[in-house]
Amino acid sequence: MKGIILHQSKYGATKKYVDWLIDTTRYHCLETKKAAILAIVQYDVIILAGGIYASGIAGLSFLKKNIDNLKGKQIAVFCVGASPFDEDAFKQICEHNFKDSLQGIPCFYGRGAWNESAMTLRDRTLCKMLQKAVAKKEPSTYEPWEKALMCAVGQSCDWTDKAYLRPLFNWIKAES
Ligand SMILES: Cc1cc2nc3c(=O)[nH]c(=O)nc-3n(C[C@H](O)[C@H](O)[C@H](O)COP(=O)(O)O)c2cc1C
Repeated sequence: MKGIILHQSKYGATKKYVDWLIDTTRYHCLETKKAAILAIVQYDVIILAGGIYASGIAGLSFLKKNIDNLKGKQIAVFCVGASPFDEDAFKQICEHNFKDSLQGIPCFYGRGAWNESAMTLRDRTLCKMLQKAVAKKEPSTYEPWEKALMCAVGQSCDWTDKAYLRPLFNWIKAES
Protein backbone atom coordinates (compact mmCIF):
# COMPACT_ATOMS: atom_id res chain seq x y z
CA MET A 1 0.00 0.00 0.00
CA LYS A 2 1.33 3.44 -0.93
CA GLY A 3 0.97 5.94 1.88
CA ILE A 4 1.49 9.63 2.49
CA ILE A 5 1.48 11.73 5.62
CA LEU A 6 0.18 15.25 5.18
CA HIS A 7 1.16 17.47 8.03
CA GLN A 8 0.67 20.91 9.47
CA SER A 9 2.84 21.86 12.44
CA LYS A 10 3.52 25.33 13.77
CA TYR A 11 6.04 24.54 16.49
CA GLY A 12 7.53 21.18 15.51
CA ALA A 13 5.90 18.60 17.79
CA THR A 14 3.61 17.27 15.05
CA LYS A 15 6.54 17.11 12.65
CA LYS A 16 8.47 15.07 15.23
CA TYR A 17 5.65 12.50 15.26
CA VAL A 18 5.62 12.56 11.43
CA ASP A 19 9.36 11.80 11.34
CA TRP A 20 8.86 8.86 13.73
CA LEU A 21 6.01 7.60 11.53
CA ILE A 22 8.18 7.83 8.42
CA ASP A 23 11.03 5.94 10.10
CA THR A 24 8.73 2.94 10.47
CA THR A 25 6.34 3.17 7.52
CA ARG A 26 8.62 4.71 4.87
CA TYR A 27 5.56 6.67 3.71
CA HIS A 28 6.08 9.92 1.86
CA CYS A 29 5.25 13.17 3.61
CA LEU A 30 4.20 16.63 2.55
CA GLU A 31 2.96 19.81 4.22
CA THR A 32 -0.78 20.21 3.62
CA LYS A 33 -0.14 23.70 2.27
CA LYS A 34 1.98 22.20 -0.53
CA ALA A 35 -0.38 19.28 -1.26
CA ALA A 36 -2.17 19.10 -4.61
CA ILE A 37 -5.09 16.69 -4.70
CA LEU A 38 -4.04 15.24 -8.08
CA ALA A 39 -0.83 13.98 -6.47
CA ILE A 40 -2.49 12.82 -3.26
CA VAL A 41 -5.04 10.59 -5.03
CA GLN A 42 -2.13 8.38 -6.16
CA TYR A 43 -1.83 7.08 -2.58
CA ASP A 44 -3.89 4.34 -0.89
CA VAL A 45 -3.30 5.46 2.70
CA ILE A 46 -3.53 9.11 3.66
CA ILE A 47 -2.70 10.26 7.17
CA LEU A 48 -3.23 13.85 8.19
CA ALA A 49 -1.14 14.98 11.16
CA GLY A 50 -1.94 18.37 12.62
CA GLY A 51 -1.44 20.43 15.77
CA ILE A 52 -4.47 21.49 17.79
CA TYR A 53 -4.92 25.23 18.09
CA ALA A 54 -7.98 26.66 19.90
CA SER A 55 -9.63 23.21 19.60
CA GLY A 56 -9.21 23.04 15.81
CA ILE A 57 -6.99 20.46 14.07
CA ALA A 58 -4.60 22.15 11.64
CA GLY A 59 -4.74 20.88 8.06
CA LEU A 60 -8.16 19.32 8.35
CA SER A 61 -9.49 21.81 5.82
CA PHE A 62 -7.49 19.95 3.13
CA LEU A 63 -9.47 16.78 3.85
CA LYS A 64 -12.75 18.72 4.07
CA LYS A 65 -12.17 20.35 0.72
CA ASN A 66 -11.09 17.17 -1.06
CA ILE A 67 -13.03 14.42 0.68
CA ASP A 68 -15.11 13.60 -2.42
CA ASN A 69 -11.92 12.91 -4.38
CA LEU A 70 -10.60 10.66 -1.63
CA LYS A 71 -13.42 8.10 -1.64
CA GLY A 72 -12.10 4.55 -1.20
CA LYS A 73 -8.84 5.72 0.40
CA GLN A 74 -7.77 4.66 3.89
CA ILE A 75 -7.76 7.95 5.80
CA ALA A 76 -6.76 8.67 9.40
CA VAL A 77 -5.93 11.76 11.41
CA PHE A 78 -3.27 12.17 14.10
CA CYS A 79 -3.73 15.33 16.15
CA VAL A 80 -1.28 16.83 18.61
CA GLY A 81 -2.27 18.90 21.63
CA ALA A 82 -0.85 20.12 24.91
CA SER A 83 -2.86 18.03 27.34
CA PRO A 84 -2.22 14.45 28.37
CA PHE A 85 -4.65 12.03 26.71
CA ASP A 86 -8.10 12.32 28.26
CA GLU A 87 -10.99 10.34 26.81
CA ASP A 88 -13.70 12.99 27.32
CA ALA A 89 -11.55 15.87 26.10
CA PHE A 90 -10.51 13.86 23.04
CA LYS A 91 -14.16 13.03 22.32
CA GLN A 92 -14.95 16.76 22.40
CA ILE A 93 -12.09 17.51 19.98
CA CYS A 94 -13.40 14.81 17.63
CA GLU A 95 -16.99 16.08 17.81
CA HIS A 96 -15.81 19.62 17.16
CA ASN A 97 -13.63 18.71 14.17
CA PHE A 98 -15.27 15.72 12.47
CA LYS A 99 -18.62 16.95 11.25
CA ASP A 100 -20.64 16.12 8.11
CA SER A 101 -18.45 14.58 5.41
CA LEU A 102 -15.56 13.99 7.84
CA GLN A 103 -17.63 11.94 10.30
CA GLY A 104 -16.23 8.49 11.00
CA ILE A 105 -12.60 9.20 10.04
CA PRO A 106 -10.42 7.47 12.64
CA CYS A 107 -8.54 9.96 14.79
CA PHE A 108 -5.56 9.41 17.10
CA TYR A 109 -3.90 11.68 19.65
CA GLY A 110 -0.37 12.52 20.69
CA ARG A 111 0.82 14.96 23.33
CA GLY A 112 2.93 17.75 21.88
CA ALA A 113 5.11 20.51 23.20
CA TRP A 114 4.93 23.99 24.62
CA ASN A 115 7.47 26.71 24.14
CA GLU A 116 6.20 30.24 24.69
CA SER A 117 9.45 31.83 23.58
CA ALA A 118 9.13 30.13 20.16
CA MET A 119 5.53 31.26 19.65
CA THR A 120 4.52 34.01 17.29
CA LEU A 121 3.56 37.22 19.07
CA ARG A 122 -0.07 36.57 18.10
CA ASP A 123 -0.08 33.04 19.59
CA ARG A 124 1.80 34.12 22.72
CA THR A 125 -0.71 36.94 23.28
CA LEU A 126 -3.63 34.58 22.70
CA CYS A 127 -2.22 32.03 25.15
CA LYS A 128 -1.57 34.74 27.76
CA MET A 129 -5.21 35.87 27.39
CA LEU A 130 -6.41 32.28 27.75
CA GLN A 131 -4.21 31.77 30.81
CA LYS A 132 -5.65 34.93 32.41
CA ALA A 133 -9.21 33.77 31.72
CA VAL A 134 -8.55 30.24 33.02
CA ALA A 135 -6.81 31.61 36.14
CA LYS A 136 -10.18 33.02 37.22
CA LYS A 137 -11.66 29.54 37.35
CA GLU A 138 -11.59 27.15 40.29
CA PRO A 139 -8.62 24.80 39.51
CA SER A 140 -10.74 21.69 40.15
CA THR A 141 -12.96 22.72 37.22
CA TYR A 142 -10.10 23.07 34.68
CA GLU A 143 -10.47 21.09 31.46
CA PRO A 144 -7.39 18.88 30.72
CA TRP A 145 -6.08 21.34 28.14
CA GLU A 146 -6.60 24.25 30.56
CA LYS A 147 -4.67 22.35 33.23
CA ALA A 148 -1.77 21.85 30.80
CA LEU A 149 -1.96 25.51 29.79
CA MET A 150 -1.69 26.63 33.41
CA CYS A 151 1.14 24.20 34.28
CA ALA A 152 3.15 25.33 31.28
CA VAL A 153 3.03 29.09 31.97
CA GLY A 154 6.43 30.60 31.14
CA GLN A 155 7.98 27.17 30.60
CA SER A 156 9.31 25.13 27.77
CA CYS A 157 7.91 21.59 27.77
CA ASP A 158 8.26 18.66 25.39
CA TRP A 159 5.81 15.84 26.09
CA THR A 160 6.20 14.05 22.75
CA ASP A 161 6.44 10.29 23.16
CA LYS A 162 6.63 7.58 20.50
CA ALA A 163 4.20 5.49 22.57
CA TYR A 164 1.40 7.82 21.43
CA LEU A 165 1.85 6.42 17.92
CA ARG A 166 1.07 2.81 18.87
CA PRO A 167 -2.70 2.95 18.15
CA LEU A 168 -2.01 4.58 14.77
CA PHE A 169 0.59 1.92 13.91
CA ASN A 170 -2.00 -0.74 14.76
CA TRP A 171 -4.51 0.98 12.45
CA ILE A 172 -1.90 1.11 9.64
CA LYS A 173 -1.15 -2.60 10.11
CA ALA A 174 -4.84 -3.47 10.01
CA GLU A 175 -5.43 -1.44 6.83
CA SER A 176 -2.51 -2.77 4.82
C1 LIG B 1 -2.52 29.52 20.01
C2 LIG B 1 -2.49 28.12 20.55
C3 LIG B 1 -3.68 27.47 20.86
C4 LIG B 1 -3.66 26.16 21.36
N1 LIG B 1 -4.83 25.52 21.63
C5 LIG B 1 -4.80 24.24 22.10
C6 LIG B 1 -6.02 23.54 22.37
O1 LIG B 1 -7.13 24.03 22.16
N2 LIG B 1 -5.94 22.28 22.87
C7 LIG B 1 -4.72 21.66 23.11
O2 LIG B 1 -4.68 20.52 23.58
N3 LIG B 1 -3.56 22.30 22.85
C8 LIG B 1 -3.58 23.57 22.34
N4 LIG B 1 -2.39 24.22 22.07
C9 LIG B 1 -1.11 23.51 22.27
C10 LIG B 1 -0.62 22.91 20.96
O3 LIG B 1 -1.55 22.00 20.46
C11 LIG B 1 0.71 22.19 21.21
O4 LIG B 1 1.67 23.19 21.49
C12 LIG B 1 1.16 21.32 20.04
O5 LIG B 1 2.44 20.82 20.33
C13 LIG B 1 1.13 22.10 18.73
O6 LIG B 1 1.65 21.33 17.68
P1 LIG B 1 2.98 21.80 16.90
O7 LIG B 1 4.10 21.78 17.91
O8 LIG B 1 3.15 20.78 15.84
O9 LIG B 1 2.71 23.16 16.37
C14 LIG B 1 -2.40 25.51 21.57
C15 LIG B 1 -1.20 26.18 21.27
C16 LIG B 1 -1.24 27.47 20.75
C17 LIG B 1 0.06 28.14 20.41
